[in-house]
Amino acid sequence: MTEPALDVAEADRRHLWHPYTQHGVADAPIQVSRARGAYIYDVSERPIFDAISSWWVTLHGHAQPEIADAIARQASALDQVIFAGFTHAPAAELAGQLARRAPGGLTRVFFSDDGSTAVEVAVKIALQHWANRGAKRRLIVALENAYHGDTFGAMSVSARGLFTDPFTGHLFEVARLPDPVRHDVVDALERLIHERETEIAAIIVEPMLLGAGGMRMWSAGALRGIRGLTAAHGIPLIADEVLTGFGRTGPTFACEHAGIAPDLMCLSKGITGGCLPLGATLATEELFESFLSNDRSKTLFHGHSYTANPVACAAGLASLSLLDDASAERRRAIGRAHRAAAVRLETLPGVNNVRVLGTVLAMELTSTDPGYLSAVGPSLGRFALGRGVLLRPLGNTVYILPPYCSTADDLSTSYETIAEFVETRVR
Ligand SMILES: Cc1ncc(COP(=O)(O)O)c(C=O)c1O
Repeated sequence: MTEPALDVAEADRRHLWHPYTQHGVADAPIQVSRARGAYIYDVSERPIFDAISSWWVTLHGHAQPEIADAIARQASALDQVIFAGFTHAPAAELAGQLARRAPGGLTRVFFSDDGSTAVEVAVKIALQHWANRGAKRRLIVALENAYHGDTFGAMSVSARGLFTDPFTGHLFEVARLPDPVRHDVVDALERLIHERETEIAAIIVEPMLLGAGGMRMWSAGALRGIRGLTAAHGIPLIADEVLTGFGRTGPTFACEHAGIAPDLMCLSKGITGGCLPLGATLATEELFESFLSNDRSKTLFHGHSYTANPVACAAGLASLSLLDDASAERRRAIGRAHRAAAVRLETLPGVNNVRVLGTVLAMELTSTDPGYLSAVGPSLGRFALGRGVLLRPLGNTVYILPPYCSTADDLSTSYETIAEFVETRVR
């Protein structure tokens, strides 16, 4: 007897709980059957341009054959093995390649599962680094409007607000530096160091781009200033490149804009080209050495069941092999298209602060209810889907962050979609 075909919509409605989704008001999710290049296809084969790289992960394009082949080969050779007491070629090779491509000195790689866990690991390494030396440094410094993930440590270092309010009291306190877009963050850090230097365990920043906090672009000069102060005072600097890594802002890593190397770097999202979950925390040899001891209590007691999953590592290696000069040229072309579009978008009524950093274009739309819960976001999202473009504004902040294979036509359709939406609002 053949099983009746699954009614996906009904099963979804009954059993699924979607991320960042208010099921009380959300439209039914779109059922997708496949994805290729810059497009997602729904079950009726309708193409949708993935203008946000499926939550900022799809790097080169969907279903990249080199990555899919590497995954298939690895899955049938070694699918998974405990990573305590065992090692394997995909992890060792990926760690070496990440260390070679990252800014100087980040020689150690600790694998985890996603962006939030990459941040958890960085924060724990920084805190335990001091504890292992017998120093009482427990204060983490973070930026206003930061977003570092949804686990408790990552929430603690993220900005407090809508996402974290229900957990108030369960998050650890951090010292907050002002938003680097509008304030002199270097001066604020200098004052903080002056007042509390011996308490500070680390500083965490999203270099050049505060992503979920509103695609806020800040300066290489301020980032350089922060690195200068942290280096002078021996304070570990954590660069959260979960979003910015692997070319999103132009160079491979956003730290390169400022010519700096942090002490810890968090990577995820595009690390596998956007195919499989994987997180990585890169650390300096100095930090690694503060855990080296005959005393086993000084161990980094952190690990995940799937740490350094071989299939994810193989995907990471295949993705890195595609991050070549041709990819850099594609990224530059996206940046040029964004900058040309920005000139036009800037002239539209109700469009403000159009900005571009590498492959990221962002702007604010005038709104009577600005912020993450602005009605503009869902309204534009629906409008864009009607035109075959996936946009997911952060409230009234609209952005395009496309896969690198996106064509000039794909991009101009996205710009036009935003322009049309803005014009229909004015009419
Ligand atoms: C800068 C940054 N850090 C950390 C995270 C958390 O990553 P994940 O959603 O994979 O846990 C994100 C996610 O958007 C991010 O943008």
